[in-house]
Amino acid sequence: MYRPGRVSPYSRFLNPFAVALAVIAGVVILAVATGLLIHFLAFDKKTYFYHSSFHILNVRYTDALSSPATQEYRNLSERIESMITRAFEESDLRSHFLRAHVVKLRQEGSGVVADVVMKFRYSRRNNGASMKSRIQSILQQMLSNSGNLEINSSNEVTSITGQDTENLFTQECGARADLLTLSEERILGGILVDEGEWPWQVSLQLNNVHHCGGVLISNSWVLTAAHCFRSYPNPQQWTATFGTSTIYPRRRVRIRTISAHRDYRPSTRENDIAVVQLERPVTFNRNIHRVCLPEATQSITPGSPAYVTGWGSLIYGGNSVSDLRQGQVRIISTDVCNAPAGYGGSVLPEMLCAGVPSGAVDACQGDSGGPLVQEDSRRLWFVVGIVSWGYQCGVPNHPGVYTRVTSYRDWIRQETGV
Ligand code: ARG
Repeated sequence: MYRPGRVSPYSRFLNPFAVALAVIAGVVILAVATGLLIHFLAFDKKTYFYHSSFHILNVRYTDALSSPATQEYRNLSERIESMITRAFEESDLRSHFLRAHVVKLRQEGSGVVADVVMKFRYSRRNNGASMKSRIQSILQQMLSNSGNLEINSSNEVTSITGQDTENLFTQECGARADLLTLSEERILGGILVDEGEWPWQVSLQLNNVHHCGGVLISNSWVLTAAHCFRSYPNPQQWTATFGTSTIYPRRRVRIRTISAHRDYRPSTRENDIAVVQLERPVTFNRNIHRVCLPEATQSITPGSPAYVTGWGSLIYGGNSVSDLRQGQVRIISTDVCNAPAGYGGSVLPEMLCAGVPSGAVDACQGDSGGPLVQEDSRRLWFVVGIVSWGYQCGVPNHPGVYTRVTSYRDWIRQETGV
């Protein structure tokens, strides 16, 4: 029966202290539960890296294996990678194995040593030590039936950190962020660029103002275009900066020497290539390291995708931008590029065209000297072009024209030793 005035407004059930207590308890329980959930999810995502060196006795070490740009290097690396992948996929670690990558092939005696990193997913049943011995025994078994590769069976597996893996990769050429962590995700699309995505990109600055792009080919040499130095040949006016921002660079280094191709011709833009030497070498890290150089004989396939990166203007006649951008283009055959409606014969054999059919993606003023890069079958990146010239920017039938790096492979070696 309802009796007004008998019950106090603060009934037993609506006691404010009890309510507050219940709310606090609820929040605490929820927080602990989320914490545990995150903890276990994160734990299950945890990965381990291992390193092992395989001494291959029946493959002779030759010059062809000294650079990741050769087909011999690619073939041997791929054979080793797929042999390891197969071994783990046929083992009880199949759900833990993620990837194997040959970081380096090197000479030992007359044979070859392959330095390999392998990535595994964490499993709660396995602590590090038991995991390592299982990996070792699976590899051991693999070596006893390794087909036509004869591998010294005394191979040791060592557990390494993600940082160690990164350091191994950044000493070699052409690895982007996804490869440094052996991750499955590829970086695609996007116009603005994250730090470390194009770690070889250099800004060449005249009196500390961005003037041209460039690309790091060793810890002390930058490849760029000759026309950047036409009016400014004095190295003392130049610096190189690293990092995606030209106003807040990660590092700034003075230029010691500028060597432009002695047969560079402004009227025809022939031999638009130069190398500059840094005053002191840069220390490679995740955000700063070198690109791979292709072999002189490497063929560049029309239609294949490539990326051009730089701080050049976004419209013809505009200003350079301060944050690095990328554009995805495709290689265009010189014949197509030289069509009467296009460049009508001005594109010489030592040049390379790249663009998109609409014209809308292109390099522009301020991108000069910067790289046009392509990825190989092992996810290593090679510089195939140097931004050189074009009719305005982004005009249909008038794609970007690049210096064809393969035509100058020997010149680069002569000038830099790289
Ligand atoms: N010469 C220009 C520079 O100095 C690069 C021009 C590239 N043009 C083009 N449409 N792709 O920055």
